[in-house]
Amino acid sequence: MNTIAKHQGSPQPWSFYQNLIASDARPGQADIRQASHQDLGLAPIDRSVYTSRDVHQQEMEKVWQRVWQLACREEEIAEAGDIHVYAIGDLSILVVRGSDGDIKAFYNSCTHRGTKLCNDSTHLKKIRCPFHGFTWKLDGSLDSVPSRWDFPQLSEDSHRLQEVKVGRWGGFVFVNPDPAAQPLQAYLEDLPGHLDPCGFEDMYIAGYYRKVLPSNWKASIEAFLEAFHVTETHPQTVEFSDDVHTQYDVFPGRRHTSRFLQPVGVPSAALTTAPSEQEIVDRMFELTVRPPMPAPQLPEGMTARAFMIAGLRAQLGARAEPLSDAELIDAMQYSLFPNMVLFRSIGFPVVYRFRPNGNDPDSSLFDMLILKPVPTGQTRPYPAEPVEMGDMRYAEIPELAEWLRDIYDQDVANLGLQQAGLKAGHTPITFSHYQEIRLRHFHQTLQSYLEQS
Ligand code: FES
Ligand SMILES: [Fe+2]
Repeated sequence: MNTIAKHQGSPQPWSFYQNLIASDARPGQADIRQASHQDLGLAPIDRSVYTSRDVHQQEMEKVWQRVWQLACREEEIAEAGDIHVYAIGDLSILVVRGSDGDIKAFYNSCTHRGTKLCNDSTHLKKIRCPFHGFTWKLDGSLDSVPSRWDFPQLSEDSHRLQEVKVGRWGGFVFVNPDPAAQPLQAYLEDLPGHLDPCGFEDMYIAGYYRKVLPSNWKASIEAFLEAFHVTETHPQTVEFSDDVHTQYDVFPGRRHTSRFLQPVGVPSAALTTAPSEQEIVDRMFELTVRPPMPAPQLPEGMTARAFMIAGLRAQLGARAEPLSDAELIDAMQYSLFPNMVLFRSIGFPVVYRFRPNGNDPDSSLFDMLILKPVPTGQTRPYPAEPVEMGDMRYAEIPELAEWLRDIYDQDVANLGLQQAGLKAGHTPITFSHYQEIRLRHFHQTLQSYLEQS
């Protein structure tokens, strides 16, 4: 491998990416052909944000009670009576498919004396409390009460299950405990406009992996919002993807969404000696093509990027037809505040969700959903159940491309060190002006929720 040089500063760090996609044969939709940058300042972040139980408590009250958050996929509750239990901190919500096919959500709490109604996702005709047997229909209306004569104060309306707002987009089911919440569609900002062509609603969960990460949920998601760490942490990728020239976008007036566009098929600008175009193809083949085979000779004058794009187009056929070259090859990653990450890249339909692990500020839950298109003309396959990974390594996940697996284990190793180190010192955290702008944007949005009364 070539020696790694210091990153070079640039007054317009997105210009490389913009020039690159302008030279692609299929240069991309209007939103890709522009960069959206704002000066969000350079303010430091206090370490306690990641370690304090008080901060966690405030987030539970002022953030998680007020944001739209991914609860499950529609195919996880495909049939009437399917119930998904979504939990975050002490909050537990039942997401229920009703007899009419509609989806409703309720607090997972009995309206008699508060007992939790369902421990795990399940299938029921009626929801029945295990304590005294109050029972509700799937639409949340009270169905029966033992010794009904003894509750003169109780009416069917007053003791319905308490409802939580539900929104749906792209086959994802979101919940928001705030009765005054803005509609999901407004909250999603430009996400549907940018991501609807991905066809998430026509996908199903082919693999589902849950790991307890050794880090606060914010540190966990932040590790995936920048490519700045790639040279140091994932050096195996620098010969064919350019972390340094990744474009980071935060959009004016948009507080819930941001993205990065990372060029692939070109080497990292952090390398002092650029590999030849043939060497880039060789490396991509070595890491991505299974069973292993020697890379073909690059046609005279063709770039490695153009060669790989042509290969992907041939491989994907009609699915590739409406897509720009960048959508075929680049890592185009979006985030939805506070905890969801999605990819626009056709080759990488993976979704991440990060949550606090109970009330522990030092660990978090990382759900990785690997989506696949429902095969044309076939019924939707059953979704994969979550695998609790325990000590299992990402390198053991069969649905992940081989070259990707090490990446997650490398990230997890960093996160354990980061959480430990956050408590070992006192200096404030600092984010870079450009490459870590999505982290700053995330914290500014978080702060705006925390400051709401
Ligand atoms: S606590 Fe639920 S029925 Fe009594
Ligand atoms: Fe990483």
